[in-house]
Amino acid sequence: MRIDVLTLFPRMFESPFAESIVARARSAGRLDLVVRDIREWATDRHRVVDDAPYGGGAGMVLKPEPLGSAIREVRGSSGYVVLLSAQGRLFDQAVAGQLALRPHLVLVAGHYEGVDERVVEAHVDLELSIGDYVLTGGELPAMVVIDAVTRLVPGVIDPTSLEHESHDQGVLEGPQYTRPPEHEGRRVPAVLLSGDHAAITSWRRAESIRRTAERRPDLLAQARLTPAERARLPVPAPERTQVADEDLRLAYASGIGSYRIAARFGLSAATVRLRLRAMGVRLRSRTALRGPTALEVERLRATGLTVRELARHFGVSHVTILDRLKRAK
Ligand SMILES: C[S@@+](CC[C@H](N)C(=O)[O-])C[C@H]1O[C@@H](n2cnc3c(N)ncnc32)[C@H](O)[C@@H]1O
Repeated sequence: MRIDVLTLFPRMFESPFAESIVARARSAGRLDLVVRDIREWATDRHRVVDDAPYGGGAGMVLKPEPLGSAIREVRGSSGYVVLLSAQGRLFDQAVAGQLALRPHLVLVAGHYEGVDERVVEAHVDLELSIGDYVLTGGELPAMVVIDAVTRLVPGVIDPTSLEHESHDQGVLEGPQYTRPPEHEGRRVPAVLLSGDHAAITSWRRAESIRRTAERRPDLLAQARLTPAERARLPVPAPERTQVADEDLRLAYASGIGSYRIAARFGLSAATVRLRLRAMGVRLRSRTALRGPTALEVERLRATGLTVRELARHFGVSHVTILDRLKRAK
């Protein structure tokens, strides 16, 4: 991949990209990063690139001629031009993934009050913001984009390191531990020391979803979750009282039991069944086992998880866990 940066402050880019993954990607020939000073395209003796805004007001605006010429020359026939802007689309992992597929990016760092709008109209393919705040210039945002994109370029990082990272599949990564097994009285969760890879995978997935629900519930609507995982999600408080009949009907029709629907929507199972009956829905037999099977619980219990941890893992009460352990015997 090639990335050209257009900036008024090229030296700002020297140190951040002299270290770590971006530096390694450059020396391995995976990333060709070229930082150019917009002043190179200024035509007057003083290399002026900004001017006062039409209509008055504070600050200066980047003039259209030097910047337009710079973009035209640097983008060539293949460059995809991204302007860093506080007004742009919010940069996220999905956008980073899309940009990493492009062979040639041109990142334009604005400064002062911003860039003459005619340059944006004529030359910019995408405006990107790194967050809802205003920075002095587009240099730091450009560095953020370069870092996030470079680690997704094939061959830069071992692909297994990218799996299950935060924002992969729309959820956050769960907690991580390393040696020693006990530190200042806090133990590493027993399942991670069990050597049971299936149990570890399932624990990590559950922790990742739990953490996302706790810290970034806004991500869950778009997250790639199975229907069962979705049914076990904790319910945000405001939804509890206002559950539409149609939502209950659809959840039940998708095969989820009334017990889990109740937990999902913050209602009692009896209320769910009552409302479904009132809608004319034929209820399925209640004899089928709800929640995890005895075998599933027994298997994870063998890794050392406590009853409380198992209950949290499966999204059921501790009474259900005790019941399954009794059945397993
Ligand atoms: C002081 S800002 C200009 C802000 C502009 N007057 C406005 O109100 O939207 C100068 C430059 O910093 C960059 N910038 C500032 N905040 C940014 C953000 N959150 N994301 C990306 N770029 C940003 C842009 O390149 C912008 O042209």
